Amino acid sequence: MQISFAASRPSGPFALVLPVAGQERAALGSLGAERSAIEAAAKAQRFEGESGGVAEAWSHADGSARRVLLVGTGSGSSADGAEKLGGTAASKLLLSGESRAVIDLSGLGYDADAGARVALGAALRSWRHDRYRTKLKDKQKPTLAEVVIVGAEGAEQRFAERYAGLIDGVALTRELVTEPANIIYAETFVERVRAAATGSGLEIEVLGEAEMRELGMGALLGVNQGSVREPRLLIMKWNGGQLGTAPLALIGKGVTFDTGGISIKPAAGMESMKWDMGGAGAVAGAMLALAKRKAKANVVGLCGLVENMPSGSAQRPGDVVTSMNGQTIEVINTDAEGRLVLADVMTYAQRTFRPKTMIDLATLTGAMVISLGHEYAGVFSNDDGLAAELQAAGHKSGDKLWRMPLGEGYDRLIDSPIADIKNVGPREGGSITAAQFLQRFVEDGVRWAHLDVAGVVWSDKPGTTFDKGATGFGVRVLDQFVESTAEA
Ligand code: BES
Ligand code: MN
Ligand code: ZN
Repeated sequence: MQISFAASRPSGPFALVLPVAGQERAALGSLGAERSAIEAAAKAQRFEGESGGVAEAWSHADGSARRVLLVGTGSGSSADGAEKLGGTAASKLLLSGESRAVIDLSGLGYDADAGARVALGAALRSWRHDRYRTKLKDKQKPTLAEVVIVGAEGAEQRFAERYAGLIDGVALTRELVTEPANIIYAETFVERVRAAATGSGLEIEVLGEAEMRELGMGALLGVNQGSVREPRLLIMKWNGGQLGTAPLALIGKGVTFDTGGISIKPAAGMESMKWDMGGAGAVAGAMLALAKRKAKANVVGLCGLVENMPSGSAQRPGDVVTSMNGQTIEVINTDAEGRLVLADVMTYAQRTFRPKTMIDLATLTGAMVISLGHEYAGVFSNDDGLAAELQAAGHKSGDKLWRMPLGEGYDRLIDSPIADIKNVGPREGGSITAAQFLQRFVEDGVRWAHLDVAGVVWSDKPGTTFDKGATGFGVRVLDQFVESTAEA
């Protein structure tokens, strides 16, 4: 999607999009003599300017028929619904036959940020993955190629500086999450990220199996041991902050496919475990976004990339593995693999980069989906301030987070009779005991948060800024967190 900005409407064919804030209809003034006919058409469609509401009409003022889309933004301030306005317009016009949309904000009080966020919403909502649809009929193919935002002063610069990189980051995440596991596995995940990051200034380093063995990453390697693919640890560094300041560490669970291993999952729905790398995908996307917008912060992103397969070489229930920091782990259930991967990546991150703050993202537990459904991701933290900062960034960006508890009582549930720790507790509180497991790998003095994103990286229905499928969840909250905290 090409995004551009202009002071006035261009000439030539385009669909005209006008925002309507409830009963506030200032935007319709530009319709001139046709206004009442178009308003009557909107009324006939039961359009009330409600947020997300849309009415369609045709204007003939210029001698040819022009599609006019009225998009409701609700009764709040017009700018509040900016992203939704862009997203709604894009979703309505994407397959409409129109190739250009002009969203005219003239005189409506959209400031630079709001204008830029109209563009952001349109760009995010129009992302698609059609690579494997070779038989789409013409009518099923997107036509909308360009969105022009008119009448928001300063929006072009704001968009370029703040949101253009974010769009690329979200797109990378969605691509990684959408691709099936025969295409995206540890090595190809790394290649895709490398290709996307070319010229961005992101520094990329990759550890292979032998190096991880040397480092003693027995927990991560145990998960991959049933796979014919090699594991990778992808490290992405962005040093946009002051020289020598400790970086923020972002860590992603990158299980490129989770069969459950020997504790194999039921067949129904198992295909969805291609997106068990959604945490790693979000970390890669966030790193790309930060680099592209030249964030003034030091951030390192680490993705533990493995495949959890059953085979003659696979890890067995009851096996005891030793993590990089020397803790022994009894693997009760090979399907609780994400925490095993994260444990070693967390240790490596803390020893190598000495972060003061470490945030991990993982599609860690089905129990998280039961708790919060698909609206909020869970956030667990050893630091109230960090949890609050993340929740604020979540609220601001739209990647919403709900705080979950941690505590001694939960921690005791993962003591093992044979080793230091076991990888599963009882069924109850499954997301919390998973977080407790991770907390055992947090070093003293490190502020840590864990985002369980199992319910939010994939959506069965379209949202404001995404179609059904990969949402790109995580990129925006991390990007916003960095802006609000490290760059402040
Ligand atoms: N990747 C899954 C969690 C998951 C399940 C994410 C459904 C998204 C949707 C994870 O590796 C897993 O299998 N967790 C188990 C843990 C259990 C064995 C303690 C689960 O949640 O069932
Ligand atoms: Mn699993
Ligand atoms: Zn998993």
